[in-house]
Amino acid sequence: MKLPFAPLARLTSALLFTAVTALAAPAIKIGFLVKAPEEPWFQLEWKFADQAAKELGFTLVKIGATDGEKVLSAIDNLAAGGAQGLIICTPDTTLGPGIVAKARSAGLKLLAVDDQFIGANKQPMTKVHYLGISAGKIGEDVGKTLAAEMKKRGWTPADTAVCAATFDELATAKARTDGAIAALKAAGFPENRIFKAPQRTADIPGSFDATNVLLTQQPNVKHWLVCANNDNGVLGAVRALEGRGFTAATAVGVGINGTDCITELEKAKPTPFFGSMLLSAKSHGYETAKMMFHWIKDGKEPALDTRTVGVLITRENFRQVLKEQGVRD
Ligand code: GLA
Repeated sequence: MKLPFAPLARLTSALLFTAVTALAAPAIKIGFLVKAPEEPWFQLEWKFADQAAKELGFTLVKIGATDGEKVLSAIDNLAAGGAQGLIICTPDTTLGPGIVAKARSAGLKLLAVDDQFIGANKQPMTKVHYLGISAGKIGEDVGKTLAAEMKKRGWTPADTAVCAATFDELATAKARTDGAIAALKAAGFPENRIFKAPQRTADIPGSFDATNVLLTQQPNVKHWLVCANNDNGVLGAVRALEGRGFTAATAVGVGINGTDCITELEKAKPTPFFGSMLLSAKSHGYETAKMMFHWIKDGKEPALDTRTVGVLITRENFRQVLKEQGVRD
């Protein structure tokens, strides 16, 4: 009878099993670095990445890094902490080559999100895995919406002008405002009534200041159509317009993100902020994290270039759409 040994055998095989699984599956740790951690867009990316971490069972390290120095030291810290992957929206896309070199020597798999790296030759680094928006197309949808709203209101090109708050240093931002301008022109809007307000910084104060300069230069415009890189770009312009007495009846702005304008759309009284192209924070947070997880765990390399779409939200439908997309409860 071998019965007395059975518990021992069970114990041994249990120990062996634990040892084997521990060997087979080292804990997966992924860094998710964003350039503007205070902005709702990036907080949502993190929220969705957290969801993936919970579901798939890996550790997510969230890092806010507003300049190059912080990015490079974050990569060192991640490597020292045993991370195997980094998802990053860099504060400066020209840091691309430096980030690639550092990630490589630290043995980190790399996935750029939102803002594509720019190489030494000033061209996008298309060999670095990237997930971003279809910037030109989404910009065009902004322009089409503005043209349609102008028509609906019966405004004429003679008393209407376009304010494009631009941030051309960032390729995705330039593609968005270029797209909006192209669609307005295609809809018949005169080119000489389209004005760019170049932002010094890609935030609300940056666009507020740039728009104020433009409004001082163009004091006789009765109606303004506003586009920008994102919600914050339009919000800054809207605040500047309100400062000069413009209202929802005399100005129309359409943002991009749909996540940074919720309080604006919730205001009881409509402002010139008409709506926004809602992007998929879930794809940018959850999907990127999932892609990185499977790349590390199963060696499944993600697509080199993935682009996501946008959908228009306005005061009429934003509550329902945000709920459907899991942005709001
Ligand atoms: C850029 C913008 C963000 C957001 C993302 C979307 O990073 O700065 O506000 O629009 O792109 O990819």
